[in-house]
Amino acid sequence: MISDNAKKTNSLADDIESVLFTEQDLDGIVSKVAKEITEHYYEKVLVNKEKLVILGVLNGSFQFVSDLVKKIDLPLEIEFMFASSYGKKTKSTGEVNIQVGKNPEVLDDPNANIIIVEDIVDSGNTLSKLMSVMRDKGNKSVALCSLFDKPERRTVEIDVDFLGAKVPDEFIVGYGLDYDEKYRNMPFVGVLKREIYEN
Ligand code: IMP
Ligand code: MG
Repeated sequence: MISDNAKKTNSLADDIESVLFTEQDLDGIVSKVAKEITEHYYEKVLVNKEKLVILGVLNGSFQFVSDLVKKIDLPLEIEFMFASSYGKKTKSTGEVNIQVGKNPEVLDDPNANIIIVEDIVDSGNTLSKLMSVMRDKGNKSVALCSLFDKPERRTVEIDVDFLGAKVPDEFIVGYGLDYDEKYRNMPFVGVLKREIYEN
């Protein structure tokens, strides 16, 4: 049993300045993106018999990928890859390490349409590095899907093909997004209190 006091001191929501997207907001955003993807790939997959591969970037996209694929009404395969995170920093260092998941051969399939799924595009460094790895694989297509976009902080030009929502230049957490690996399990998205990361 958790005492009431322990509950209070452990609440993730206490560290949140303001809620940006509720669970209901996120459901609407994910439904919109899933509909766009379904409409875009419908003919390729069902008529031309091309493959659709959802390539989630871990760990941030795990909640988004999980909800998104449930709403895409097409046969598809799911793969994951790792890119470097900020660790305890809230700004990108510009260095990105990439590790492809368990079945990297699906990414070399000439009949595959790949959709890279990210939690948020900030400077653009991570996705631009991922794109340079994916570009020469000779797939049918490679597209980018991101739940959030922070356009004010962009330093590398990136076109997001399927976007959930634009967000202001604030550090946000929840629904997969972390600070120091925490807050990913929150079902909503909020702005993190500055006192949590500013000493
Ligand atoms: P970029 O390479 O600067 O575009 O950063 C992309 C990655 O930074 C995302 O996949 C996130 O992991 C992380 N990131 C950027 N902004 C935020 C934020 O506001 N909250 C949590 N993580 C973020
Ligand atoms: Mg992160």
